[in-house]
Amino acid sequence: MARDVRVVLVTGCSSGFGRATVPAFLENGWHVLATLRGAAERGPALVAEGERHPGRLLVVSLDVTRDDQRRAAVAAARARWGRLDCVVSNAGQALWGALEDVTPQELRAQMEINFLGAALLVRDALPLLRAAGGRIILISSLFGRAGFPLSSAYCASKFALEGFGAAIREELRPHGVQVAVVEPGRHRTGFAGRAAWGERSASARSPYAAQSAALAELTRAVAASPGPPAVRVASAVVALAERRRMPARVRVGRDTRLAHLMRRCLPERLADALWAVACARALRPHTERRAPAEVTS
Ligand SMILES: NC(=O)c1ccc[n+]([C@@H]2O[C@H](COP(=O)([O-])OP(=O)(O)OC[C@H]3O[C@@H](n4cnc5c(N)ncnc54)[C@H](OP(=O)(O)O)[C@@H]3O)[C@@H](O)[C@H]2O)c1
Repeated sequence: MARDVRVVLVTGCSSGFGRATVPAFLENGWHVLATLRGAAERGPALVAEGERHPGRLLVVSLDVTRDDQRRAAVAAARARWGRLDCVVSNAGQALWGALEDVTPQELRAQMEINFLGAALLVRDALPLLRAAGGRIILISSLFGRAGFPLSSAYCASKFALEGFGAAIREELRPHGVQVAVVEPGRHRTGFAGRAAWGERSASARSPYAAQSAALAELTRAVAASPGPPAVRVASAVVALAERRRMPARVRVGRDTRLAHLMRRCLPERLADALWAVACARALRPHTERRAPAEVTS
């Protein structure tokens, strides 16, 4: 295999950031192992993406919660190209709802997809990544750094991903593997529309019914409003993968950069107080709000 071949594995390529990342890597000369759930039915649309880049795109099934499929995806990179230079862990889903309205199974499933799926895929890929002096890019979120009400499961999964990324960044440094976290703000993808809700969130008897209704209204308003396109995140991911030294963190979007600036520049207690005001405003019923605030993810 030629030394200039660079192979990247991306998860969650059926839509959104993952889908936009595939052509972005191909156009930059990478060989791409694009993974998604149900490749047999949904793969062909993606395969068409690779027609202009013969031999550089392989599409395989990967549900990140499945041990066998994670191992098979890594084995596919080894079998086809004999190497793996970068893993982009992008697959994710949101679970909204107050903690008391979420079942233990729902909470576990959120961690399985957003955190364990990523951590175990990286674990499986590490022998190839170490051999290549490769890179790991974890798609986190603004909510990986800031807690938002009725999002505790999602925030916990992204905070876990951030802690995982920070730890393996140092653990793998002596082995020549670089790790970075991408923290997107709100972007225009299928994400808001696909979010799951806690089983009891819809119950009028829930003590959190008013907050849930406000969040549902807010997510609908956000989903219907224009936001930056997914390709912004895709471009940032490819640019990151191509840097000689990856920074620990990259933020994409005005909202996530603003939140970071607030944390960096203000005393902690003041930043916490301002964030509390922003959270309360965001979940005020629509009629009380002058303009819909944004819920990012
Ligand atoms: N859009 C935003 O505003 C935003 C902001 C911050 C962070 N993020 C993060 O960005 C990442 C991508 O989200 P997106 O905005 O591109 O949303 P999206 O369009 O809904 O894409 C999510 C992708 O994850 C996949 N996925 C979900 N569960 C999976 C599983 N168990 N195994 C494999 N794939 C799975 C989905 O596949 P299926 O089609 O099979 O469901 C889909 O391809 C997520 O980690 C999300 O948390 C998004």
